Amino acid sequence: MIRWYHIIMEAVNVVTSLLSNQYAVISGASQGIGAEIAKVFASEGAAVILLARNETNLRQVADEINRSGGNAIAYPMDVSITDNWRKLSAFMKKKGLSCDILVNNAYWRKLVPIGQLSDEDWQQTLDVTLKSYFLGSREMIPFMLERNRGSIVNISSLQSHIPEPSFGAYAVAKGGVDALSRVLARDYAPVIRSNTIIAGAVDTPGFAEGDDFKRELGSRLPAGRIGYASEIAATALFLASSQSSFITGSEIHADGGRSIT
Ligand SMILES: NC(=O)c1ccc[n+]([C@@H]2O[C@H](COP(=O)([O-])OP(=O)(O)OC[C@H]3O[C@@H](n4cnc5c(N)ncnc54)[C@H](OP(=O)(O)O)[C@@H]3O)[C@@H](O)[C@H]2O)c1
Repeated sequence: MIRWYHIIMEAVNVVTSLLSNQYAVISGASQGIGAEIAKVFASEGAAVILLARNETNLRQVADEINRSGGNAIAYPMDVSITDNWRKLSAFMKKKGLSCDILVNNAYWRKLVPIGQLSDEDWQQTLDVTLKSYFLGSREMIPFMLERNRGSIVNISSLQSHIPEPSFGAYAVAKGGVDALSRVLARDYAPVIRSNTIIAGAVDTPGFAEGDDFKRELGSRLPAGRIGYASEIAATALFLASSQSSFITGSEIHADGGRSIT
């Protein structure tokens, strides 16, 4: 009796999981928002392929997912390099993996007034924060076309709409991300959807500010606090899944209401 109960509950879980039988590739998945997205997607039945440079952190995230019954592969790489994406694609084909969902999430930035930014830092910002989104999309789109479905979720920032001082090249790169997302939506409709999350301040290792600063910043937002990575992951899950099947070329603000202040 108990055995039948488990078999039926497992079947129900497969049916109700939002991402069952799907592969998701997530860049910047070794910590913060990317790691949270990986955990949420895996808990909804996706096999997740995790990308970032720090192999130790990446494997920790993958191990945690696999220990809790999910399916995660850690693939350490610098996502700003074209050849790395080609090698990933070849690896996926060799292993019989595919891609239904791509989350472009990795970023790099240097906070200085734009007039003090070196050529190298400008280029590095654009390479990691914008070019990697293009490279990832270009390399994963053939998998999606082959499967006749796909969703690309691009993680952007409110800095592309309302830049704070010294966010220069990062804000410019994120503006490019917003446009790229719409371009992808136009070029690959109706098979592939592409949408953007405009994130506000979110408590992650990358948001390296003290608790007092976070509290003070949060108190100025309509939400009364800054965001959690899990809240961006929940938004990404919505955009990745068929729950958002009529949404493409859109931006969702997950910013605690900052854009209306
Ligand atoms: N947190 C916020 O307040 C906030 C606000 C608005 C938007 N966002 C956006 O949300 C996304 C995630 O931010 P987060 O706060 O979660 O950042 P985070 O904690 O600093 O994590 C960034 C991730 O990107 C990876 N990464 C950086 N450079 C890489 C490269 N060249 N190749 C591969 N992976 C690379 C890092 O891993 P490795 O170092 O191991 O490579 C790490 O996994 C970003 O797109 C960011 O712009 C965040």
